[in-house]
Amino acid sequence: SQPAMSIFSDVPQAPPVAVFKLTADFREDSHPQKVNLGVGAYRTDDCQPWVLPVVKKVERLIVEDNSLNHEYLPILGLPEFRSASSKVALGDDSTAIKEDRVGGVQALGGTGALRIGAEFLRRWYNGTNNTATPVYVSAPTWENHNSVFADAGFKDIRPYHYWDAAKRGLDLTGLLDDLEKAPEHSIFVLHACAHNPTGTDPTPDEWKKIAEIMKRRKLFVFFDSAYQGFASGSLDKDAWAIRYFVSEGFELFIAQSFSKNFGLYNERVGNLTVVAQDNENLTRILSQMEKIVRTTWSNPPSQGARIVSKTLNCPELFAEWKGNVKTMADRVLLMRDQLKAKLQALGTPGTWDHITQQIGMFSFTGLNPKQVEYMIKEKHVYLMASGRINMCGLTTKNIDYVAQSIHEAVTKVQ
Ligand SMILES: Cc1ncc(COP(=O)(O)O)c(C=O)c1O
Ligand SMILES: *[C@@H]1O[C@H](CO)[C@@H](O)[C@H](O)[C@H]1NC(C)=O
Ligand SMILES: *[C@@H]1O[C@H](CO)[C@@H](O)[C@H](O)[C@H]1NC(C)=O
Ligand SMILES: *[C@@H]1O[C@H](CO)[C@@H](O)[C@H](O)[C@H]1NC(C)=O
Ligand SMILES: *[C@@H]1O[C@H](CO)[C@@H](O)[C@H](O)[C@H]1NC(C)=O
Repeated sequence: SQPAMSIFSDVPQAPPVAVFKLTADFREDSHPQKVNLGVGAYRTDDCQPWVLPVVKKVERLIVEDNSLNHEYLPILGLPEFRSASSKVALGDDSTAIKEDRVGGVQALGGTGALRIGAEFLRRWYNGTNNTATPVYVSAPTWENHNSVFADAGFKDIRPYHYWDAAKRGLDLTGLLDDLEKAPEHSIFVLHACAHNPTGTDPTPDEWKKIAEIMKRRKLFVFFDSAYQGFASGSLDKDAWAIRYFVSEGFELFIAQSFSKNFGLYNERVGNLTVVAQDNENLTRILSQMEKIVRTTWSNPPSQGARIVSKTLNCPELFAEWKGNVKTMADRVLLMRDQLKAKLQALGTPGTWDHITQQIGMFSFTGLNPKQVEYMIKEKHVYLMASGRINMCGLTTKNIDYVAQSIHEAVTKVQ
């Protein structure tokens, strides 16, 4: 007998996620000099993923620790992870923490923290189930921001001015203007540091201007902090904007990811920090967060949270981790210096100062889509269509080849 027609015959094929497609194409490429500058993950100078030495050490401690088991964690996560290092995001001496109005929800990566936060806001922010609240994301941004808020039900997701392509820097005027014009109570997703994809952050003075308008115009701040430590090598310095906003009395959310700064990408370690006006309000917020988590993943996984909390709770391991973060940040800085120097030595048309002015894992090269295509097809150097490159994909061994490839792309393709 004929098998029945599948009831899923009408499901359309979804397009692949660009960055994972790029990696798949890279894997299939057999060219000996191929380079992957796409995916946002750290690589050593041998182009290998890096298990942080402190992580290896703590993993061994966990294996040997007979007091640990695999029981369910509480819905909101591992208590010592949630309470661990207020030092990390908010600083040791945070008044908000002392006032007991800061709470955390352990989440599946930074993405999970964003998703849970977005779901909560749709349900409870400025009215119940207010899907009309405008959500502003930077232009450009990590593309998942749009989808996460759309999937949480928000209907009005708008770009705010951020990148000035001509000056290859921050469009502060455009950004401040958008803040002034946004409807009161709009939600703004702000990158806490090391903006993805532009590698361009506001200066402290610029952050102060942003905060002044946001407070006056009653705009909601949702920080995305996925690269703390990667911008400057210092965890404290990279949390400057967050701590400033908290000191200014904002009620806000912070989606914290430990994927990059702990190299724990596949363990899915994130934290949604909620800063409320007082403990009473915090308690009610967290009770609703618990309901959202219960129907989403019910309870979070423990291994990554254990590694992070053991590291953060022990002064020696904490110091060692800070050193590991600095190792990663310093290698990125070295590659920035070398890439700029090599392009200048080649006499590649254009200015390349932005390579060293930009910070974090990424550089927005300014290469246009045709030049990107040339890089991929002719030179086997893989990068995002936006011209974004992951600086960690550069090594002392491939940097000459990449610089030469950029030189050719810029001189041969307009
Ligand atoms: C800006 C930004 N936010 C959030 C994330 C999500 O990180 P995670 O892997 O922890 O979900 C990323 C990852 O690339 C990112 O670039
Ligand atoms: C998670 O967030 C809460 C609230 O800010 C904080 O107390 C806790 O230290 C954070 N956990 C980690 C591991 O950063
Ligand atoms: C929320 O609002 C949307 C659009 O206005 C509507 O379709 C949906 O049914 C509402 N959900 C709830 C739980 O009220
Ligand atoms: C917030 O709620 C108020 C009162 O219901 C409403 O007038 C306003 O339009 C809402 N703002 C947004 C951005 O949804
Ligand atoms: C916190 O919530 C309560 C309602 O339970 C409210 O009366 C109180 O004013 C709130 N605190 C602040 C600072 O708004």
